[in-house]
Amino acid sequence: MSIVSGTRTDQRLGFADQTEEVRVAALAVSGEVPAWLTGGLVRVTPAQMDFERRSVTHWFDGMAMLNRFGFDGGAVSYASRFLDTDARRAALASGGAAINGFATDPCRTLFQRVQSTFRPDLTDNANVNLTRLGDEYLAMTETPIPVRFDPETLETLGHDQGAAAFGQLTTAHPHHDPERGELVNFAAHLGRKSEYRVYARRSSTESRTLATMPVREPAYMHSFALTPRFAVLLENPFTVNPLRLAFGGRSFIHNYRWKPELGVRIHAFSRATGALHRSWTADPFFVFHTINAFEDGGDLVVDLCAHADASIIDLLNLDGLRAGTNAPQEAQPLRLTLPLAGGAVGSRRLADVDLELPRIDYRRRNGRDYRYAYGVSSGGSPFLKSLVKLDVTDGTHVVWDEPNAWAGEPVFVPRVGGDGPDGEDDGVVLSVVLDAAAGRSFLLVLDAQTFQEIARAEAPHHIPFGFHGQYFSAA
Ligand SMILES: [Fe+2]
Repeated sequence: MSIVSGTRTDQRLGFADQTEEVRVAALAVSGEVPAWLTGGLVRVTPAQMDFERRSVTHWFDGMAMLNRFGFDGGAVSYASRFLDTDARRAALASGGAAINGFATDPCRTLFQRVQSTFRPDLTDNANVNLTRLGDEYLAMTETPIPVRFDPETLETLGHDQGAAAFGQLTTAHPHHDPERGELVNFAAHLGRKSEYRVYARRSSTESRTLATMPVREPAYMHSFALTPRFAVLLENPFTVNPLRLAFGGRSFIHNYRWKPELGVRIHAFSRATGALHRSWTADPFFVFHTINAFEDGGDLVVDLCAHADASIIDLLNLDGLRAGTNAPQEAQPLRLTLPLAGGAVGSRRLADVDLELPRIDYRRRNGRDYRYAYGVSSGGSPFLKSLVKLDVTDGTHVVWDEPNAWAGEPVFVPRVGGDGPDGEDDGVVLSVVLDAAAGRSFLLVLDAQTFQEIARAEAPHHIPFGFHGQYFSAA
């Protein structure tokens, strides 16, 4: 097993296990946390990679732990708790042998693989993202069985099965439609006739199909884009023969093949009718995250974080990350311009900075013309490190960075009462940052307008690097 020492003073500490579940009523706070922040920032991270008999082989397969920074009148509390999933129970019971994840195979010498046709073993290790559906809070990965949790106690409350009918694969990046009170997502149904399905859910029991499209070899898609009129799928040229998933005997992502000759196929579906409005093909790249999309005159504009190819996935193998030998490939913020009446795809880089884990003022700007994106940049470092505020209208950007600090996804929270016409960056940016020299993490609060620190709260230990989190207000 490759267990990382807790004394590392660089980014490698972010890949070390943190199996302690703690509750701290009041963290040491410097600066002033705005009193209008209520509820909490809840994040989910892979937190246990090492088991008695072996470790997971890929960062994406660490067992999900929830971390919560709670806000109350300027004070900050902290709590962490594992999701009590079938995946974690099986991993603990088998010493890790039974793990069947994104890129970690069950160990055949230790555990007999069981596979049913066209139903990849669906992991419930929901370590990617969180959302709210009606009154329920869900932790998600890319299988359609999210895990319900209590946003205050972090207790696991069982599975949500309401999306399972749409397909075996989905995304952990559903979009919110505030007008209809729905979550919109995409799924891939795998079978003798596979198809993409765009679906919407109002609650755990109410759902509907918005659009479908047959597909022979589904592409890996981690997110998609939504505008008031269109649901936009971006097919990475990284595709799978569904038979291979069913019978290939390899872990999920290793069944996919990089086919740059396909380019990136982009499909805009009418949300009103479900009809395919138009498809375009862009030069090949690999995308995990869209940033935003909107209509501009006769064009559909889609901003995203583009990797050169799918090798980013292997670069996130755990051994290399722990050894510090895998410098992840940098993603570039890219703007695609798609003529709605047909025509060639326009493509241009938005700024001279690398950017991943993008966030925007989602509630007010998603699907609309916007100005600011926030993200994390490696800037040549061995891993994502610095926070970036990017003005997408002119490419200018502001950076927050400190020695030995490795920042996570920046979550923009609009200031309560800050809904004025110039309010897009009126609020704070929250990020959980690893202070590698101190051997622990802290919650950083930046003024979103100046991108200057206004407060930080020290966590009692290091929090492993993760992907996504959400601010859930108490109201
Ligand atoms: Fe993601």
